[in-house]
Amino acid sequence: MKISGICGSLRKNSWNHILLKIVLNKLSKNKNIDTEIINISKFPLFNADIESVATPTDIVDAKEKVKNSDLIIFSSPAYNGSYSGVMKNVVDWLSRTPQVLSDKKALVIGCTPGMSGTLLGYTHLNQLLFGLGMNVLSQPKILVSSVNKKINEDGDLLNDKLEILIDKGVETILNKINI
Ligand SMILES: Cc1cc2nc3c(=O)[nH]c(=O)nc-3n(C[C@H](O)[C@H](O)[C@H](O)COP(=O)(O)O)c2cc1C
Repeated sequence: MKISGICGSLRKNSWNHILLKIVLNKLSKNKNIDTEIINISKFPLFNADIESVATPTDIVDAKEKVKNSDLIIFSSPAYNGSYSGVMKNVVDWLSRTPQVLSDKKALVIGCTPGMSGTLLGYTHLNQLLFGLGMNVLSQPKILVSSVNKKINEDGDLLNDKLEILIDKGVETILNKINI
């Protein structure tokens, strides 16, 4: 089984990247699971003129990784009551033919230093992925508010309740992908 992650923040110390790494590391403790964060940092802004010449190699590679994954975990920051523009750009590129998203399992997670825990962005991103035919998991909900008080920048969990939530979430993910 392969589980891949995509982060919707390009920031070096992105909390959403750290959270994604924590979840994937816990999943990879299961010997039947390989995990990887797909590098989307070189995706240009979508432009049909670029695509009409050739789809950039980074995007071709990312699509191949998505195609070979059993589940994609999307971790996106909350920007202005929605998910990030970076994430929308990634999904726009991935949605182009040849189709790799349709029927693929997807899970949205996210975190904010503020109180929102990405809730609106979570809802919007779920809707986007559902519209593209992805098999969007409604559980687990790994949405974290005040993340800067619960995780440090080295990826250590500082909050027992969050650790329990993530551990239970990992169990739910394993059940949903039939492991
Ligand atoms: C343009 C912009 C809009 C933001 N809007 C929200 C928001 O609506 N709700 C929220 O809780 N945080 C918001 N934030 C704060 C981000 O959640 C915070 O910067 C977060 O750390 C970004 O994720 P990252 O650490 O993974 O890069 C916003 C930040 C930016 C730059």
